[in-house]
Amino acid sequence: MHSANVVLGCQWGDEGKGKVVDRLAESVDVVVRFQGGANAGHTVMVEGDTFVLHLLPTGILRESTRCLLGPGMVIDPWTLLTEIDELKGRGLEVEDRIAIAGSAQLVMPYHKRFDELREKALASKSIGTTGRGIGPCYEDKMARMGLRVADLAREDSSLRRMAIDKVLRANRLLAERHDAPAMASGAIADELVELAQRLRPMIVSAYEYLAPLRSGQWSALLEGAQGALLDIDHGAFPFVTSSNCTIGGALTGTGISPRDLGRVLGVYKAYSTRVGNGPFVTELHGDEAEDLRSRGREFGATTGRHRRCGWFDAVAARYAADLNGLDEIILTKLDVLSGIETLRVCTDYEIDGKGVRNFPVWLEQLEKSRPVYRELPGWTEDLSGMTTWDQLPENCRRYVEAIEAEVGVRVEVVSNGPKRSNWIERP
Ligand code: GDP
Ligand code: IMO
Ligand code: MG
Repeated sequence: MHSANVVLGCQWGDEGKGKVVDRLAESVDVVVRFQGGANAGHTVMVEGDTFVLHLLPTGILRESTRCLLGPGMVIDPWTLLTEIDELKGRGLEVEDRIAIAGSAQLVMPYHKRFDELREKALASKSIGTTGRGIGPCYEDKMARMGLRVADLAREDSSLRRMAIDKVLRANRLLAERHDAPAMASGAIADELVELAQRLRPMIVSAYEYLAPLRSGQWSALLEGAQGALLDIDHGAFPFVTSSNCTIGGALTGTGISPRDLGRVLGVYKAYSTRVGNGPFVTELHGDEAEDLRSRGREFGATTGRHRRCGWFDAVAARYAADLNGLDEIILTKLDVLSGIETLRVCTDYEIDGKGVRNFPVWLEQLEKSRPVYRELPGWTEDLSGMTTWDQLPENCRRYVEAIEAEVGVRVEVVSNGPKRSNWIERP
């Protein structure tokens, strides 16, 4: 019986999901992205070449793997075609392998404008979004106002009319809410009609497309974007994204039933990072933060922003593992920690002097949380050339074991570098 394994970010995004999916995609029939949009930045290194994917599932880098942009996604068609053309320009045959769910939502230029204006209005209280129009697009979806990918399959005149209506509505709201100038409805609609010509052949019903999965002929990998602590329902609201990046999103965002799910793989980085604003209990500042940032090259793949850096937070990690019912952990970027004398893992929080074991999801509590650390001795060896668990320095293995003991889920794989070959399976 074939089934769908799920790869989920279990911190604040950028855990290395792209690398993990790329590695596992070789042996599956289809990779499906199920939520989010071009806010994601999944970086993959293939034989010295670096690819950054925002909308396309990472399986696209494996030449015989099909890719579906699932119903739960919000898709900016301008960005999508740019991404496709970039890959084609680099010699990859991609168009025949891409399917786009008709029920996914379209991110329109006005969504990005609203995103930007709202962040500006929030000023010091801003979320620090990626500016990719994600929140406003999901708002239109929930309000049942959005354009969908399937609308691109309408006749040109009908699509054009619909797009103009949507831009005119957005223009009214831009004026009312932000006193902002109108956007050019005719030009946007014309561009959309043109993009539609190229995208039409890729539009599918996800239900029909995934039939071979239900009948046991296909295996699938479901690729999450962002991470559990950014989940709209389970993250530290409002400093979250606008979709479900936890396991529920993998079902609603694909239409795959729980019966067809296989293993749930949680990707964690060996330390913590976060882009954008909001509480971050184990955050480091000053030289320590700068040191970790430069070792791990922690700069955003989508916006180029500095990633905030800190120690591994096992309180948040346990919460993510429980929410997702993880079967295993893949721990990335272990190599980055080589040469740090003493490592710290946050095992508990302290709120108003009291020890707390469970992740507090309410912002007020979270803001008051202080980390309680366990210290572990580091190691100095360069891990990047190592290929087996036994080769890893003892302190390194102890560090991994400490994390799995705190989280309560076994670490099955450690990643010791950005390359495909940097992959150590636990015996
Ligand atoms: P994603 O959004 O979860 O796919 O993660 P990103 O691609 O945004 O960020 C992860 C970064 O770390 C990328 O630049 C990867 O190439 C890199 N990376 C992934 N795994 C490892 C690893 O084990 N070691 C090192 N040094 N880099 C890694
Ligand atoms: P990948 O898939 C890290 C963060 C933003 C901001 C918050 C809301 O590469 O892990 P949004 O634009 O989604 O409305 O922003 O979420 N964020 C990410 N952080 N990695 C990502 O994706 C992210 N996608 C969104 O920085 O704090
Ligand atoms: Mg990323």
